[in-house]
Amino acid sequence: MKCRVNPHYMEKLYSFYSPFYDYVFGKLLGPGRRQAFKYLDRRPHQKVLEIGIGPGSTLEFYPPKTKVVGIDISASMIEQARKKAAQINSGSHFELKVMDACKLAFPDNHFDAVMAAYVITTVQDPQQVCREILRVVKPGGQIIAVNHTRTQNGSFWGRVEDVMAPVFVRIGFTTDLDVIHVMKKVGINVQQAVACNLLKTGRIIMGTKI
Ligand SMILES: C[S@@+](CC[C@H](N)C(=O)[O-])C[C@H]1O[C@@H](n2cnc3c(N)ncnc32)[C@H](O)[C@@H]1O
Repeated sequence: MKCRVNPHYMEKLYSFYSPFYDYVFGKLLGPGRRQAFKYLDRRPHQKVLEIGIGPGSTLEFYPPKTKVVGIDISASMIEQARKKAAQINSGSHFELKVMDACKLAFPDNHFDAVMAAYVITTVQDPQQVCREILRVVKPGGQIIAVNHTRTQNGSFWGRVEDVMAPVFVRIGFTTDLDVIHVMKKVGINVQQAVACNLLKTGRIIMGTKI
């Protein structure tokens, strides 16, 4: 499938969105995000990587005493996330860095869990991002993604999502990517996918590294 995502365009677009991202997308994406975090283990001191952390809309959901490393390609998003982190007193530690999810600067088997909220459909090379997620998570670690994912099995909606993709990519994400398929393809052991958000357009996808 031809990739429609231009990383430079996305970086600029999300940097532009960063001051008001939560106001625009909060209501739409918030329920799925909140629900996804209910599946994260609540072991204190675990080390969690969140890719494409945006303005830090998820920081409040981390269990107390979690060591969170959040990365994003947009420096403006990371700046917003740092402001949010400074207001949270849960005993968690937040380290927020500008980084490309395609090239994670972490060793293999480093994190207890990886979270990816609405990011896999915004990158140019989703397979590479999923490979990197799999590389840095420990064996048995949790991989939780919340995302729109293209409807499977050649259905009518799948075709609508293909047609709409060039429009949605201008807004910031593509609709023609089957995220579950990509995750499975790179070797993530996908165990469950739960519908979320308005009209059940999102999926919380839970996997692990065997
Ligand atoms: C739709 S927003 C999601 C933000 C946040 N995770 C949320 O729950 O709303 C996508 C985010 O992914 C970031 N992003 C896009 N491409 C990226 C890449 N290659 N590496 C890291 N972050 C990326 C964008 O800058 C943006 O902040």
